[in-house]
Amino acid sequence: MAIQADPELQSVSPERQGRRPGKVIALLNQKGGAGKTTLATHLAGELALQGSRVTLLDADPQGSALDWAQRRLQSGQERLYGVFGLARDSLHQEAPQIALQADFVVIDGPPRVAALARSALLAADLVLIPVQPSAYDVWASHEMVQLITEARVFRPQLRAAFVINRRVVGTVIGREARAALADQPFAALETEVSQRIVFADSVAGGRLACEVAPQCAAAREVVALAQAVREVLR
Ligand SMILES: Nc1ncnc2c1ncn2[C@@H]1O[C@H](COP(=O)(O)OP(=O)(O)O)[C@@H](O)[C@H]1O
Ligand SMILES: [Mg+2]
Repeated sequence: MAIQADPELQSVSPERQGRRPGKVIALLNQKGGAGKTTLATHLAGELALQGSRVTLLDADPQGSALDWAQRRLQSGQERLYGVFGLARDSLHQEAPQIALQADFVVIDGPPRVAALARSALLAADLVLIPVQPSAYDVWASHEMVQLITEARVFRPQLRAAFVINRRVVGTVIGREARAALADQPFAALETEVSQRIVFADSVAGGRLACEVAPQCAAAREVVALAQAVREVLR
């Protein structure tokens, strides 16, 4: 998908000149349905609501985040952040330029470990791997974990963490999932995101959970996620 023409992406605004580039956060997991798009759109939204300047790069050829943004636009809602399609292998060369214009660049990753995922990885300061709380899902992220481990040989400053997504409300994550996580070369964020209908319900209208149900538990989890991300990147 081609990048949309947007003056924001063409030049560095005077107020950002001389400032450090924004941090790049990539949501990566080759498994479809892990929650990359859900967490990317919500994390970007929360960071923007907190006053940061955010750009979301949709690096999934399916363009789900672009579709979400389109629905948001069509329903006349506030544009919290720009969403651009950048599903191409040169992502790592283009992201630094885009980061000059933002405090945070959030990359919604593709459902495959291929050149595009590698490119997103190369661009990132922090990789978040959403996983459902089962040992199978942790094991299924093996290829991505390996890729990150290799990338860290050359870029030891690259941060990475699992994010438990879709934890069933009222349960703690099972012993097997926890054991599978303990075997990994990096940890899971302490904050977890639960399975909540509002995440799925908010998509069709191009909205965020906190816009559908302000102050809801899902919204609070997203606030905690954004806080955790800020702390990791501080
Ligand atoms: N925490 C959650 N609670 C409820 N539904 C979720 C949650 N996370 C993701 N989903 C739903 O699961 C499906 C897949 O999520 P998505 O974010 O599109 O995954 P990915 O981008 O990794 O393929 C979507 O229908 C989404 O609404
Ligand atoms: Mg997706």
